Amino acid sequence: MKAKNKILVTSALPYANGPIHLGHLVEYIQTDIWVRFKKSTGNDVVYICADDAHGTPIMLKAKEQGISPETLITKMKKNHEKDFESFFINFDHYSSTNSEKNKELCEEIFLKLKKNKFISQKNISQFYDDQEKMFLPDRYIKGECPKCGAKEQYGDSCENCGATYSPTELKNPLSVLSNTKPKTKDTTHFFFNLKNFKDYLINWTAQNNLQPAIKNKLNEWLSDNLNDWDITRDAPYFGFNIPGEKDKFFYVWMDAPIGYIATLKEFSEKNKKFEDIWDNEDNGEIYHFIGKDIAYFHALFWPSILNGAGYRTPNGIFCHGFLTVDGKKMSKSRGTFIKASDYLKYLDPEFLRYYFASRLNDNIEDIDLNFDDLISKINSDLIGKLINLASRCSTFLEKNSNLMLSEQLDDAEQFKIFVKDIEKVKELYSDRKFSNAINKIMSMTDKANQYINEKKPWAVDDLNYVQKIATQGLNYFRTLVILLSPVMPDLLKHSEN
Ligand code: 2FM
Ligand code: ZN
Repeated sequence: MKAKNKILVTSALPYANGPIHLGHLVEYIQTDIWVRFKKSTGNDVVYICADDAHGTPIMLKAKEQGISPETLITKMKKNHEKDFESFFINFDHYSSTNSEKNKELCEEIFLKLKKNKFISQKNISQFYDDQEKMFLPDRYIKGECPKCGAKEQYGDSCENCGATYSPTELKNPLSVLSNTKPKTKDTTHFFFNLKNFKDYLINWTAQNNLQPAIKNKLNEWLSDNLNDWDITRDAPYFGFNIPGEKDKFFYVWMDAPIGYIATLKEFSEKNKKFEDIWDNEDNGEIYHFIGKDIAYFHALFWPSILNGAGYRTPNGIFCHGFLTVDGKKMSKSRGTFIKASDYLKYLDPEFLRYYFASRLNDNIEDIDLNFDDLISKINSDLIGKLINLASRCSTFLEKNSNLMLSEQLDDAEQFKIFVKDIEKVKELYSDRKFSNAINKIMSMTDKANQYINEKKPWAVDDLNYVQKIATQGLNYFRTLVILLSPVMPDLLKHSEN
């Protein structure tokens, strides 16, 4: 018997400083559909995720609430897990980057990189808030854009002209925390020598399962000079200490992806499987699902860190676009920033899963949510076509045979032709072309309804014949529900009862 394919799948780790919203759910629903499909077709898949629990925003949020960061992240993790469960996101293990395992791994990877001479130390000058007694991350400094002069721009880039710069280039900078003028202060930071990995990355990009748009973006970045990456943050910071350093911490973007490995390790220790998947490419496949905005971290830094520390790299990185609501970026002021828990007060979670699936493909285009459109899609596809098929057939059965199915189908040849489309649907799921898979399933649903229309069981007197038609219709329905089950697992569960 052929050994099952081992596949490790991850979704990006959500920050532990806010609730899960519909924008997040695009990714978790997309990944969950793919994982459910891969599991249902005989692969041995493990799907993991974790809360991304470190960094300045989490530290400051806890301070604002008068609680410890540990208390905040414990509370958030519970909320996140509850939301995921409500939307049938079925992780095999869900952890936190603030775990013992992750701490050990971050230290181990850092020391290996150091030993392999991929870490250097440099003195740098950074903005410092004297009142808050802390160095300021780029997003905590505002000022005038050095290129176009636009006011109120963050320390890393200008929303008006798109320029990117270092915070010290901003004119009239102010600390977002205290509204005071920050001073510059010297500090020593550890850097990861990304420059050493340019050739490796060019090769990696060419060989891996990446979408064309992402490949192009990477090649564009790789045609330029790569800067070494600052992986240090000074105290106060909520994170892991850099080994041997009292007041220096790993930057959250260093310990977060390592959290993928740590989370799997926790799972493997308990379940005794996938222990060696990160050691060698022959041990299984690894895929990361992420938003296109974090491709830089996953496709440049991450493979380089892994390679530099002697780990294998992922086989593919699958990016998706952003969610817009009514054609615009989600916004709190427009009321279109919708939390998962708020959506659940009004609508069924599987409606959103179906709607997103009907919009998602293997590209990185943004996807739009419009509630009128969602309702009309659910009404026309699911109620008008799919459920209608089942309810028509069960009504005929009820009337004619007291709900007993017949032994035979009315037209076995036609059924054979119908199920031929299953292979196509499977191919589309596997290629993450979910909107095409949904279209195909709906055209099969149309064919099933058409069959009933043509047979006109309501106009037939032969009870036996009516029973056979209804039986065939219900078999079509069952096939369709199974085909939809990666998207709507709960519908399958209910139809089986
Ligand atoms: O962008 C984000 O929301 C990050 N928290 C994703 C981290 S993914 C991985 F690298 F850990
Ligand atoms: Zn500007």
